[in-house]
Amino acid sequence: MNLFRLDGSIFPSVSSSAEIADRAEAEWTAAHPGGTVNRRHLGAAPLPADAWVQATTGGATPEDQRTPAQNEALALAARLAEELESADAVILAVPMYNFGVSQHFKTWVDLVIAGAGPTNPVLKGTPTALVTTIGGGYGPGTPREGWDHSTPYLKRVVGDVWQADLTLIKRELTLAATTPGMEGLKDLAEEEHAQALAAARDIGRVLAGV
Ligand SMILES: Cc1cc2nc3c(=O)[nH]c(=O)nc-3n(C[C@H](O)[C@H](O)[C@H](O)COP(=O)(O)O)c2cc1C
Repeated sequence: MNLFRLDGSIFPSVSSSAEIADRAEAEWTAAHPGGTVNRRHLGAAPLPADAWVQATTGGATPEDQRTPAQNEALALAARLAEELESADAVILAVPMYNFGVSQHFKTWVDLVIAGAGPTNPVLKGTPTALVTTIGGGYGPGTPREGWDHSTPYLKRVVGDVWQADLTLIKRELTLAATTPGMEGLKDLAEEEHAQALAAARDIGRVLAGV
């Protein structure tokens, strides 16, 4: 059995998304002590920012005319797609940055699509936990309702395009404990934190099939 784990935090040592993903991973590992966890950390080791352009233009270029950079990017794209296709279960930990997904996460998505093809459901039926953490709050009735351009995109790609058997764990208000002006939200933030960790434990068991 193998689990694919992706992290997108640019601050790995204090990552709130990693904390939740760790909880789910621990359940999976407990159920599959001999299993393999394949990791890709986009924050600690970002993919080359120009790889998608090289892979996409390379794909549109006859093989014998491709540049070395195009060949390299196409090989990377194929490898990234294969990492998903070969997974028995998947955990994705993706923070919100600047009201959306970051460039380094988007590069990964675009490269997977370049490697697999635009309509290839690379995660068809694969149990997948998508953890997202967000500093503020964007729920119905909040001043910034509608500003979360990350979660809908993540669900569209992972759930609809890649057809994962998707469970979303979303923790908002991660900055409430440390940000002036958010003091009144601390209790709610703590509640969201506890709920996210409990949900991670549950989904970890689902991913493990126990
Ligand atoms: C560069 C940067 C940009 C961010 N942009 C936003 C944002 O637009 N909206 C928001 O609510 N939080 C924003 N945050 C806060 C993160 O979403 C929040 O800290 C999240 O918990 C980070 O996840 P991590 O701890 O796993 O890295 C930003 C954080 C950083 C470092």
